[in-house]
Amino acid sequence: MRVHRLDRIAPQIRLVELRDPEGRGLPPAEPGAHIDLHLPDGAIRSYSLCGDPADRHAYRIAVLNVPGGRGSGFVHGELALGADLIISPPRNNFRFDAAARYLFIAGGIGITPLLPMIRRAAERGADWVLQYCVRNAATAPFLDDLRALPHGRVDLHAADDGRRLAVDELLASTPVDVPVYCCGPQRLMEAVAAAARPGQDVRFEWFTPRPEPGRRDAADDSFEVVCARSAVTVTVPAGTSILDALYAAGVEVDSSCEQGICGTCETTVLEGEPDHRDSVLSDAERAAGKTMMLCVSRARSARLVLDV
Ligand code: FES
Repeated sequence: MRVHRLDRIAPQIRLVELRDPEGRGLPPAEPGAHIDLHLPDGAIRSYSLCGDPADRHAYRIAVLNVPGGRGSGFVHGELALGADLIISPPRNNFRFDAAARYLFIAGGIGITPLLPMIRRAAERGADWVLQYCVRNAATAPFLDDLRALPHGRVDLHAADDGRRLAVDELLASTPVDVPVYCCGPQRLMEAVAAAARPGQDVRFEWFTPRPEPGRRDAADDSFEVVCARSAVTVTVPAGTSILDALYAAGVEVDSSCEQGICGTCETTVLEGEPDHRDSVLSDAERAAGKTMMLCVSRARSARLVLDV
C-alpha cells in the first residue's frame, strides 16, 4: 500500500491515507474495523480505519503522537508521502449493528473507529448522539465532519473549558435498548463499563488489555491442548500461553498483539471450557465458548480440543 495523503489534522495527529499503487480496489472494511501496520523495525501496530467504508479505494487512519510509541514515532517521524507500507487486511472486533438510536462516547483519538459508525448511522437515518471528550475544543479531530452529519448531535466536553462528561448520569438516562459504542482512554472506558446498567448493550474497542480484577492475577494451572487438525497434543504449563506452547510444538497459529486485543489468534474450540482473558469477545461470545484467543486465554477444563 502506498501513502497517498499525509496531513496534520491536529497538532499531534497525522491522517494517513493508503491506496493500492496500481489503483486496484481494496478489501471491504465495515465500520469499527482496524488494520495492522507492519513497521520497518518488525513491530506491528493496529489502527482503526476512520475513512468512509463505502470508499473501496482508500484506507484512512489517524495516528496520535504518543511519547515513546513505536508506531506513532514512525508515522510522525519517518513516514513520507509516496512511501510503501505493508498492512494486514481489515479485521473487525468492534461490530456495528443496525439500530434506530445510538449513543457514542469518544475520548480524543478514540473517535477514529466511531467516525465510520456515525457516518453509517447518519446514512441510515438513525438518531445518534456523540458525547465527545477532548482536551481542547479547538483541536478536536474530525469535529467539523461530525457536526455536518445529519440526524444527530455532538456534545463536546473539553477539559480546558472544565466541561467533563458525567458518565454515571449519562448511562442512567440512556434507555437500555439503545446501543452504546465507546472508545477512548482506558479511564473513560472503565468509567463507562462501571456505569453500565444490567442488560445495557455497551461495546468497547480496547487498545490496551481490558482490566479484569482477579482474573489475570489468578494462579495458572497447566492443562492439555489437543490440536485436532495437526494431530498434536501439548501440555501448556503454568506461566506459558497456549500460543507459545503451540509454537514450541511446531504448530503455527497467526498472531499479532499477543495481548488479547486484536483478535488475530482467535481459534475455534471443539471441546473443553476456555478461561477467557481477552479484550475482544463479548460476554455472550465468552459464554458460548465457541472460540478463544490463544495468546492470553487458558482453560477451565483439564483439556481443550482446538481446531488447529
Ligand atoms: S494475537 Fe492479538 S488477540 Fe491474540
